[in-house]
Amino acid sequence: MKNITILGLGYIGLPTALFFSKSGFNVCAVDINEKIVDQLNDGKITFKEDGLEELFLSTYNNIDFNTKPKEANLFIITVPTPFLKNKTIDEKYINKAFLDISSLLKKGDSIVLESTVPPMITEKLIEKVGMLGFKVGEEIYIGHVPETIIPGNMINEFKTNRRLIGGATKKCSEVVSEFYEQVVKGDIIKTDLRTAEFVKVIENTYRDVNIALANQLMHLSDEMEIDIYEAIKIANMHPRVNIHNPGPGVGGHCISVDPWFLVGIFKEKANLIEMARNINDNQPQYIYDKLIKKHQIKNKKIGVYGLSYKPNIDDFRESPSFTFIDILKKNNNQYISYDPGTMSLVETNQTLSFEKFIQESDLIIIYVNHDHLKENMKLIIDKQMFKI
Ligand SMILES: NC(=O)c1ccc[n+]([C@@H]2O[C@H](COP(=O)([O-])OP(=O)(O)OC[C@H]3O[C@@H](n4cnc5c(N)ncnc54)[C@H](O)[C@@H]3O)[C@@H](O)[C@H]2O)c1
Repeated sequence: MKNITILGLGYIGLPTALFFSKSGFNVCAVDINEKIVDQLNDGKITFKEDGLEELFLSTYNNIDFNTKPKEANLFIITVPTPFLKNKTIDEKYINKAFLDISSLLKKGDSIVLESTVPPMITEKLIEKVGMLGFKVGEEIYIGHVPETIIPGNMINEFKTNRRLIGGATKKCSEVVSEFYEQVVKGDIIKTDLRTAEFVKVIENTYRDVNIALANQLMHLSDEMEIDIYEAIKIANMHPRVNIHNPGPGVGGHCISVDPWFLVGIFKEKANLIEMARNINDNQPQYIYDKLIKKHQIKNKKIGVYGLSYKPNIDDFRESPSFTFIDILKKNNNQYISYDPGTMSLVETNQTLSFEKFIQESDLIIIYVNHDHLKENMKLIIDKQMFKI
């Protein structure tokens, strides 16, 4: 039975640890955050996701949840990869994770970076491993296996999505694939490190640029008093048109972050990508301007419903609703906010119940349309609402 050590037990690392354990591997699952490790050892999941609890309860007893990594045949790194002020990647978490495992490495081991990174980052591990005295491709195998599961459908997508295995050498991709073939049912595509890194980043860039186009089309249609949703619906009846939906901004740890990686490397050449990012980042301001054009909001208490970055999840990272709240604060508007998903370890400072939130709001803005709202619609039927 092979041993796997996973570093980082967030949205990606935890399901990964559970699936490898379920497939019969000995798993040591590591996080530097003691709270997370304690909670998992207590038999409780750390975030809400369809099917996660069931999967967790079926195998958590077999997993060594720990704050320190242990020797393994495969080390998987799933730590955060934020960007710095200049839009280049902040590599500090990856560097620390590598440092944490460097004294545990032995001949025959594999290291996989699953965190999303710009091209040419994983290859830095080749040099680091070389400095420890190992030959990459012969003694240690290095791979980049980007994760593409979507919050809300992670458990299904983990099994079925095609998996891209970038290797430092052909032998590296083959060795690393042997592990993943035992866990995922989707196609395994082998390629080199840079291509794997680039493919992951351009998938999210494609989405971001297309959302920016839809947002810009909304700005134009607002000028002409055209219903953008009707216009897009009709345009998409054309066999070669697939316009995305406009929205109140783009959030989360992927689509709103990864395109910056390309802008960070190619300041001049990635100008379309940069413009799209800026359009999407400006959507909360656009929504605010639209709100004050349509409604008298002076002396009214604005209720902002939905704080996560998309419906039915409790992931609040990079959420545009927080930018919107900052704009309300800056303009001295009174506001209160509510989100039904407060299970996440992320602090939302929510003290109000939903009933109180409804009672106290003069005008409700549905920033994120959770199913919870539909289920409780009768409570808010007589309130003035603003849906973006
Ligand atoms: N969340 C998603 O939907 C998603 C989807 C695809 C790819 N990704 C990528 O996967 C990576 C991880 O994302 P996430 O959403 O799971 O992040 P996360 O913040 O939820 O989890 C990362 C965890 O790593 C831990 N950590 C940091 N340094 C560590 C170390 N040295 N050893 C052990 N643990 C350490 C942190 O405490 C944290 O709990 C990122 O690169 C992200 O871009 C995320």
